[in-house]
Amino acid sequence: MTDTNPALETPTDLARNDTRTVADALNAALADSYALYLKTKNFHWHVSGPHFRDYHLLLDDQAAQILGVTDAIAERVRKTGNTTLRSIGDISRRQSIKDNDRDFVAADEMLAELRDDNLTLVERFRDVKQASEEAGDNATSGIVDDWTDQAEERAWFLFEASRKG
Ligand SMILES: [Fe+2]
Repeated sequence: MTDTNPALETPTDLARNDTRTVADALNAALADSYALYLKTKNFHWHVSGPHFRDYHLLLDDQAAQILGVTDAIAERVRKTGNTTLRSIGDISRRQSIKDNDRDFVAADEMLAELRDDNLTLVERFRDVKQASEEAGDNATSGIVDDWTDQAEERAWFLFEASRKG
């Protein structure tokens, strides 16, 4: 990560290098949240088959939940004196969750891919947890637990919905 422009520095008692490590982890989690948000919407729009209604609605709920966390992630970065994402290009440079631009994806493949991607996001949040504990950044360390729980819940729903009856 580049140095914060002095004009954008925020007062904090946390050590500069530590908050930068937390910010890097938060920005990685934020980029993956946006990548996962758009993929979940993509699948919401393009899902087809006998479970259309269930999956269409489930994916919309999940997309809204993912998007709902993004602002809090970015603001943790700013509250600790660092800078966050600025553009779609910034997201694409940092995301580890891969896009899926295929013409057709079967519904069961969609659920499996999103389940794995949500577990990837859980890993990003664990990186945030570790960095924030090491930095003494209690607020980030506390709030990331909810984000982790939500991602694990999404993975669980996707797993159960994909079981063969
Ligand atoms: Fe919709």
